[in-house]
Amino acid sequence: MDAQEILELFRRTEVDESWSFGWLKQSQTGKLTHCYHRYPAKFIPQLVERLLEEYAPGEVHVNDPFFGCGTTVVSAVTKGCFASGTEINPVGWLIAKVKATPLEPGWLQSRVRGFLRRAWESRAEPLVPERYAERLGYWFPEEQMDKLGRLLAEIMREEGRVRDFLLVGFSHILKSCSLWSQSSTKPLRNPGKRLPEPLSALERHLQKMLRGNEAFWEVAPERLRREPEGMLRIEVGDARAQPVESGSVDIVITSSPYVTSYEYADLHQLSNMWLDTVHDLREYRRRFIGSLYAERGRQPEGEIARMIVERLEERSPRLAASVAAFFADMQQVFRETARVLRRGGRACYVIGNTRLRGVEVLNAEAFAEGMQIAGLELERVIRRRIPLKILPQRRDPVTGRFSSASTGAEAYPEEFIVVCRKV
Ligand SMILES: C[S@@+](CC[C@H](N)C(=O)[O-])C[C@H]1O[C@@H](n2cnc3c(N)ncnc32)[C@H](O)[C@@H]1O
Repeated sequence: MDAQEILELFRRTEVDESWSFGWLKQSQTGKLTHCYHRYPAKFIPQLVERLLEEYAPGEVHVNDPFFGCGTTVVSAVTKGCFASGTEINPVGWLIAKVKATPLEPGWLQSRVRGFLRRAWESRAEPLVPERYAERLGYWFPEEQMDKLGRLLAEIMREEGRVRDFLLVGFSHILKSCSLWSQSSTKPLRNPGKRLPEPLSALERHLQKMLRGNEAFWEVAPERLRREPEGMLRIEVGDARAQPVESGSVDIVITSSPYVTSYEYADLHQLSNMWLDTVHDLREYRRRFIGSLYAERGRQPEGEIARMIVERLEERSPRLAASVAAFFADMQQVFRETARVLRRGGRACYVIGNTRLRGVEVLNAEAFAEGMQIAGLELERVIRRRIPLKILPQRRDPVTGRFSSASTGAEAYPEEFIVVCRKV
């Protein structure tokens, strides 16, 4: 299909409400271990499950090059599939690994109970990562930092799977225990925020996680219960280098980052600082696809991507260069997807369009073209409504832009699933 035909196909495609899953309650989208950790832009397990049912029934190999907190990974292993993929954010990797590892509920409960008993009486020296002590001081009042540091010290005394389980719970409560404005995804400080007692917050959340683990244990295939590592190859790494052999994957189900108003690296900074998982924050940011800090000076290959970049150049050369770099990087990811897929395998990319500085950024159309350039065949386009998307509410009276998006990005309440096939 050429660029015009792709644009026309997307224009003609209407919303398919059956893919919107608007009827689901939070308890359903957060079922099993999907409730362990909040994660910006995570998708819902029902979407992955339906794609698996339609395109790859059975115990297949599922890959996600941007697995985030592991929605695809968990949905895949629950069905007895092998899951592989990469995620550049070490905390995302930890969350995904823990979420995909069912633990014997009775054993876990007694270990968590033991931990909580010790934590309530703890006199441990607070464990606060030296290199981030000052930055953490911006987000946490001193007393709160001491309490969290003591909790972390107790968690680090545990071993293996219990420690990882507790670390995910710890990471989840950091935002509510900090001065980070609760209603903001972006790093916004609210000095007047009322903060909960960290151990009480952790205890509450651990109860929820224990219930999630129990439900997961009940449905987990025997093989996953026995040896979860055998069903997983997920790594902290770049989407352009998958840890799997060529032609070994049956289906790729993923949602990529975009060039928008927020930086993924910054969104997870509290967790990455406390868990001391990132050593050079600057360098780390640059590795994110879609980041405004990414190396510029590269050009996209597709006609649609080039058209978007040209239009943006008139408004903001800097933003245009970031968008160009984004499409060029994604082109490499599409090539990697084409490499790992077997013939007849599917690539399903979930992606929304945006508007930057008044220019329509047709990510989905550009992705469809990019995947064709990588040698895949465009098979289907699904347009879905995003029922829970938090949309920008107000416009800036001066610029007319939505005020919650500082670079002038507007997100739409719809997104696409672009399905391609390797022929
Ligand atoms: C839309 S989110 C994916 C969310 C995921 N579908 C889920 O349900 O949790 C996109 C992810 O891409 C990751 N990412 C950005 N650049 C990357 C890169 N170069 N390699 C791998 N992952 C990257 C971000 O950290 C983010 O977690």
